[in-house]
Amino acid sequence: MQTKVVPFSDQAIADATRLILAGHPVAVPTETVYGLAADATSASAVAAIYAAKGRPLFNPLIVHVGNIDDARAIGTFSSAAVKLAEQYWPGPLTIVVPLRADAKIASLTTAGLSTIALRIPDHRAMRALLASTGVPLAAPSANASGSISPTRADHVLRTLAGRIPMIIDDGPTAGGIESTIVKVDGNATYLLRHGPVIVSGATAGGGDNIEAPGQMAAHYAPSKPLRLNAVTAAAEEWHLGFGDVVGTINLSSSSDLNEAAGRLFDLLHIADLSPARRIAVAPIPDTGLGLAINDRLRRAAVGDR
Ligand code: TXA
Ligand code: MG
Repeated sequence: MQTKVVPFSDQAIADATRLILAGHPVAVPTETVYGLAADATSASAVAAIYAAKGRPLFNPLIVHVGNIDDARAIGTFSSAAVKLAEQYWPGPLTIVVPLRADAKIASLTTAGLSTIALRIPDHRAMRALLASTGVPLAAPSANASGSISPTRADHVLRTLAGRIPMIIDDGPTAGGIESTIVKVDGNATYLLRHGPVIVSGATAGGGDNIEAPGQMAAHYAPSKPLRLNAVTAAAEEWHLGFGDVVGTINLSSSSDLNEAAGRLFDLLHIADLSPARRIAVAPIPDTGLGLAINDRLRRAAVGDR
């Protein structure tokens, strides 16, 4: 299969819509990372996402919708869930809620769970695709399972070239790190994945031990060993700097965690492609967005390759 990379335009959205309604997955940017989108109501379309990514079938997908009414047709929103949705959507917050019995979602999308992960994205390409297809779009990050998430069209090509028909290229994503995931169970809110949105009052962990399987170790792994908290680096190491720890390339010389999150995956891709045999990463403070950055880095460090 030839993978077309097409700049964002009305024509690109029309072509992608045709592919999606015919059951094919298409890569499209969101405000966080590029997603691999397919019709969440079609079992075969969702199966094509899992096949292209080599993703284990027990790892459920996030479903993207264009508005809150569409979200409420799929999940049951408690008043706490409505409040979060109103506060943060559209935006990089995924809310896990009970799946409605009458929701028209292929059960493969949720890996058979009785809950569903939903979000309204804030990106013109993904929103145009939602409007034009008229279906909820299941979309995991557009990378082969276990590899580094994509923030640019050529990152998508690196692991999915020849496996998907089309990538809509709308430049580097604005956020750079995947959405925060919370699970809302009645009044209780549990944090399943650190991300750009800091939800106050969310308890760590799923409460009932159903963790987001993306929280498995060995996620986001580059193809070479990665060492954390490295103030200095050895000669054979590519050093990802932060603040005063200059490094080979710096995530943010002004120690700005927003800037660092936006550059994290891009620089990990560069480190991965470099001739260096190992990657070392400067210490990142464990506060605010640093929590999400360190979460991704710890998983990159334990990846089994
Ligand atoms: O920013 C993002 O969230 C990007 C863009 C494309 O929207 N998507 C993304 O998807 O990061 P993915 O598949 O790489 O991560 C989705 C995570 C996985 O860890 C999955 O296990 C979890 O969401 N998840 C999905 N449905 C769930 C559910 N019902 N309960 C718990 N976790 C769930
Ligand atoms: Mg992913």
